[in-house]
Amino acid sequence: MYCLGVETSCDETAIALLEKSDDGSYIILNEEISSQARLHEKYGGVVPELASREHLKNLPLLTDLVLSSAKKSLADIALIAVTSGPGLKGCLLTGTNFARGLALKHNTPIIGVNHIEAHIVSPLLENPQIGFPFLALVISGGHTEIIKVTALGEYELISRTLDDAAGEAFDKAANLLGIAYPGGPRLAEFADRVTTSRFSLPKVMRESPGFSFSGLKTAIMILIRDNEKLISDDEGVVFEIAHAAQDAILDALLYKLKEAARATGISRVAVSGGVSANKELRRRLNADRSLEVFYPAARHSTDNAAMIAYLGLRLYTERGVRDETLPVRARWPVEESR
Ligand code: KG4
Ligand code: ZN
Repeated sequence: MYCLGVETSCDETAIALLEKSDDGSYIILNEEISSQARLHEKYGGVVPELASREHLKNLPLLTDLVLSSAKKSLADIALIAVTSGPGLKGCLLTGTNFARGLALKHNTPIIGVNHIEAHIVSPLLENPQIGFPFLALVISGGHTEIIKVTALGEYELISRTLDDAAGEAFDKAANLLGIAYPGGPRLAEFADRVTTSRFSLPKVMRESPGFSFSGLKTAIMILIRDNEKLISDDEGVVFEIAHAAQDAILDALLYKLKEAARATGISRVAVSGGVSANKELRRRLNADRSLEVFYPAARHSTDNAAMIAYLGLRLYTERGVRDETLPVRARWPVEESR
């Protein structure tokens, strides 16, 4: 049984072809991702109208590529799964309208899925042995959440960001250091070039139940302002500031995750979303003997359509979820997704 996944919630156009084989295993037959990072770079962030237009241009090209190189056609597809929220409204509409058009051709069933729910289940694609319940730490550009997952489709929110997301905090810190958008991965690279830092930033909101990263931005701004001369005299100082920023963000993520593990008695953790690609985060998590940690494959940490197809196919086959109306939701808390 084949499912075509369509993802356009932000600045990545992605298409994937997933097969559920007779033994119940899932195989990615093909997938393509077109990132718009370079297009938005000069604006310092995603421009929604440009993103929608780019999706519209890329969707048919990527779909043809994915299907033809897997030697499949639309007639072979049993289900189309498309991200219907949360995300940029215009981008979501572009994706869902395109998917609806494809579905009409052969009367293919279609299902709209929650992008965050897809991140939550993405580690299961490569690690089907992860048992329920587990804690999902979703850390992306727009979301930072710890969710207790008791079964597919059953989510309980433990903690969520009150302002900036972890990825956004990485990107804003990078921006303050003059690193172009999306600066998160580059900031991480800078941070890892040194092993210590002469700077220390305040611990991020350890006491409150939610995450908050906006104060960190101000602290970095002040740090840069107070050390202007040092920064211009020694380029290594930037690496040390990046190191301190990464440390502060990771400290908050690990602290809250461990607190959630203690409170729920669940030590199994699935980490997903763009920031889960962070090397230092993985090093710290893997070194923690009290947690059993799983990740998606590197290419499925950031936005992709394989996770959309996987979630769609599982909801369709295991829970009988159908979705003829396909409303798009810019805001769609994952605990309200089913
Ligand atoms: O999940 P994702 O691809 O898109 C959203 O749904 O937001 O996450 C993108 C975010 C960006 O903020 C990016 O800077 C961050 O993930 N990111 C990283 C790393 N790779 C991507 N942040 C820190 N370290 C990384 N290695
Ligand atoms: Zn995402």
